[in-house]
Amino acid sequence: MQTLQQILPDLIYVGASEGRHPLFENIYPVPAGMSYNSYLITDEKTALLDTCDMSVREQFWDNVTTGLAGRDLDYLIVHHMEPDHAALIQEIVSRYPHVQLVCNAKTQQLMGQFFPNTTAHFLTVKEGDTLSLGRHTLAFYMAPMVHWPEVMVSYDTTDKILFSADAFGTFGELNGSLYADTIPFSDFVPEARRYYTNIVGKYGNQVQMLLKKAATLDIEMICPLHGPIWRKDLGLLLDKYQKWSTYTPEEKGTLIVYGSIYGHTENAVRVLAEKLAAKGMPVRLYDASKTHPSYLLSEAFRYSHLVLASVTYNNGIFPPVETFILDMKAHALQNRHVFLIQNGSWAPASGKLMTALLSDMKGITLDEEILTITSALKPEQEMTLDNLATRISES
Ligand code: FEO
Repeated sequence: MQTLQQILPDLIYVGASEGRHPLFENIYPVPAGMSYNSYLITDEKTALLDTCDMSVREQFWDNVTTGLAGRDLDYLIVHHMEPDHAALIQEIVSRYPHVQLVCNAKTQQLMGQFFPNTTAHFLTVKEGDTLSLGRHTLAFYMAPMVHWPEVMVSYDTTDKILFSADAFGTFGELNGSLYADTIPFSDFVPEARRYYTNIVGKYGNQVQMLLKKAATLDIEMICPLHGPIWRKDLGLLLDKYQKWSTYTPEEKGTLIVYGSIYGHTENAVRVLAEKLAAKGMPVRLYDASKTHPSYLLSEAFRYSHLVLASVTYNNGIFPPVETFILDMKAHALQNRHVFLIQNGSWAPASGKLMTALLSDMKGITLDEEILTITSALKPEQEMTLDNLATRISES
């Protein structure tokens, strides 16, 4: 049965949520499911704004055909070619042979790679072009690398709606309600942060460019391709995007990520955490072996300070900690204070190796001292830990 929802008399949500697949992009855990949003405008002309992921194909078609109510589809606006939104384009062309695919030049290159038989349907648009559907007029703005090079967004000049592609999305399904203002913002933020940092965190400059374009528009509603629609308190979301895209910590606090085999390194970071907490510093501790890197990256974007503690393993960094560091590098995390703890029973080496990995990251301030544990923390090292806690809290 269809699950479409009316947003406005001539704007219908025809996307779908699903909770059966444990991973998004076959890499990110999505324990709360995922939504794949698609919007249908039923004006004098009909326009579908993106398709959906193959995982929700049946629901999508049920919604689209119900929404069209027997009408033909005139336009498919293609904001993004990643298959979680573009998987059904070939089928759109097959079902609606008169449809025009509204897309930019870069999109056409990717479309040709995914769906070589669609080129005759292209209607090319570029920055600032408009398309009248009758009551609605859509204006197109390029948003390269948010999250692929062909991405564009569209702005409905009639109803002041920004169709924002991947931007302003989140992990998680919609739970029946379309609107962000039906859930507490604090409930929304953790998975929105994890989505942003992992999906577009690397492209802060490009997100900044999009935010600057959006600032010139009078926006009353944001319709993203994942997660709820925004129609109130847009400033809350924009403030988060401003911080995340400039790599500005959201709050002063210490993220401790540790790799420990038999618990001795864990003991050291727990002692450190107590000392930091006693100084009033918020602390979050994560065992890298048990936590998916996407959650660690998200927390690294949140907090100002980072402690990495790793055993020496095969003369290297403990692999889960190394994976996290490489993930931070890949996502261009910047502007953080970083402190290192190494453990090694006969030849501690992880500190030097972590330093080498972190040293070419922009805006990373590495503490000069590496705290070294040989097998287990000794009582006489308490002063050293006190000093470390002081350097963290005062930096
Ligand atoms: Fe939701 Fe970049 O795709």
